[in-house]
Amino acid sequence: MKLKDILLNIDFKGYKHYKILEKKEFYFKDFSIFFSHIQSDPYAPPSAAIIKVKSHNIPLQLRDSFDKRVALIDYLHREFFRNINDKNIIVPKPLQKVLYRSIGFFDNDDTLVFKINIQLPAKGRRILANEAIKIILNNLPKIVQNSLFYDSLDKDKLNKHIELYLDQQFIRDFLKKNNALVFIANGSILPRESGISDKPLKNAIKFISPSSIEVEIKLPSGNIIRGALIKEGVNIITGGGFHGKTTLLEAIEAGIYNHIKGDGREFVITRDDAVKIRAEDGRYVADLDISPFIRNLPYGKDTKRFYTLDSSGSTSQAANIIEALEAGSRFILIDEDTSATNFMVKDEIISNFITHDIEPIIPFLYRVREIYEKYKISSIIITGGVGEYLKVADRVFLMREYKMEDITIKVKDFFKTKNSNIKNYNYEDFYIISPRRLKENVINPYKGKKIKIKSKDKTTIIFGNYSIDTSKIETIISSNQLKTIGEIVYLSYKKYGKKYNIVDMVEKFLEDIKINNFENLLVKDSPSYILPRKYEIIFALHRLRSVRYKI
Ligand SMILES: Nc1ncnc2c1ncn2[C@@H]1O[C@H](COP(=O)(O)OP(=O)(O)O)[C@@H](O)[C@H]1O
Ligand SMILES: [Mg+2]
Repeated sequence: MKLKDILLNIDFKGYKHYKILEKKEFYFKDFSIFFSHIQSDPYAPPSAAIIKVKSHNIPLQLRDSFDKRVALIDYLHREFFRNINDKNIIVPKPLQKVLYRSIGFFDNDDTLVFKINIQLPAKGRRILANEAIKIILNNLPKIVQNSLFYDSLDKDKLNKHIELYLDQQFIRDFLKKNNALVFIANGSILPRESGISDKPLKNAIKFISPSSIEVEIKLPSGNIIRGALIKEGVNIITGGGFHGKTTLLEAIEAGIYNHIKGDGREFVITRDDAVKIRAEDGRYVADLDISPFIRNLPYGKDTKRFYTLDSSGSTSQAANIIEALEAGSRFILIDEDTSATNFMVKDEIISNFITHDIEPIIPFLYRVREIYEKYKISSIIITGGVGEYLKVADRVFLMREYKMEDITIKVKDFFKTKNSNIKNYNYEDFYIISPRRLKENVINPYKGKKIKIKSKDKTTIIFGNYSIDTSKIETIISSNQLKTIGEIVYLSYKKYGKKYNIVDMVEKFLEDIKINNFENLLVKDSPSYILPRKYEIIFALHRLRSVRYKI
């Protein structure tokens, strides 16, 4: 039967009669729609459908690598979203970032598979067939026609979109080849419109590189770009309050992802193992050796196998670093705004009263050079208040009225006449822990008989009977990405948790996702999954309060 007749047959019947569409495929002139999941309640989330376009005509050279496909699907997603003419047809809202998503892919037959949600119309709980016909048979085909066929796309714009993404990926390689951490192009706009908007601030002062670190990069597109190259080592950013330090660091954090043209940060590119380290008091920490930073706690509390439901500012910051390094990062970002002072530093005067034999904390100041020299762990640290950090820096930058200046030479000259030594307390050598393994049966997303993994904003994962506080994992970008993270925590453990340590477990699962286009996650037909890095997944796992590790 034709879709139209089926719908007319169930007009004004109870909403669950829509179920007749489920698992059926209907053919239009140039595409088909498969109703993969139909909700039986109009107040539930929308139903899911898969659009298949065989004659999309998108040339192979626009999609013959993983990177190209990410950029291409992102473009189609944006076009589809822009063309939506009906509030009942739903796809996730595109962000400023270009991300690998579950919304679309090319299957083995080279068919473009594109996932959408449809809110099937009702009056109360009764089916409105004519409305449904309008949505599915009139409005949807127009959107598909305008956004998923090569001939209707703006080819020049599409080419530029992919080209930009490839240029950005090229800079990522450039960083690795040049022992560098970050590239920030001249002309970049770093500040955002507001604390809750990811759009660029209007009339912002544009970034200009200090000449001492300015480089020129010839991009695959043929364009030549100039900007600041921050090299591996200990990099300090200082400056007066409100002069743009945090804004710079936040742009660097965001640079682990590629941004769209016009964002202002499209050529702010950061090495993809960057992790923001901050204090997080109240954090759950399980079975972690934090002794490289914290030892001799009162009453002999074990710091080689530290366990707490409620850590302090300093112990949480120590745990965050140890776990970042465990996960593989060799690049940490620290802002004094979000750090525990006693973790960062301890001054001379207070050392007379809190002597080093009774102080459990080895401040980061005493480790930062050691970890770079021994393990090549680089850092970018903001401090406007602690001069001691200038002594341990490879380079010092000053932010003055949103302009970056290189004051390394000035600082070195200053210390020529002053004592530039950091006291040596003969602490035991720093070490990086090897990745831990999970104990058995410590991850359970069931609530009663059903799996429940949901995200609330970017800040909480509801995970069975638990809720995971992710509000301090700053590199999580959206609720959809957070839900993806929650599912990977469970599914990677289920598949690889017995055999592998947590890092291998997550890395293997991420590889699977790239092959399966997210169809190994819980909702095969969801357009909403967004790929996270391994770091965000591992960090979320650590915050699940049932988790315990073998060590
Ligand atoms: N390049 C810029 N142009 C205009 N405004 C900026 C720029 N960089 C930062 N700001 C704004 O200045 C304010 C202070 O910046 P912030 O980075 O928090 O300073 P700091 O960390 O040095 O105290 C913020 O409101 C921010 O949006
Ligand atoms: Mg600040």
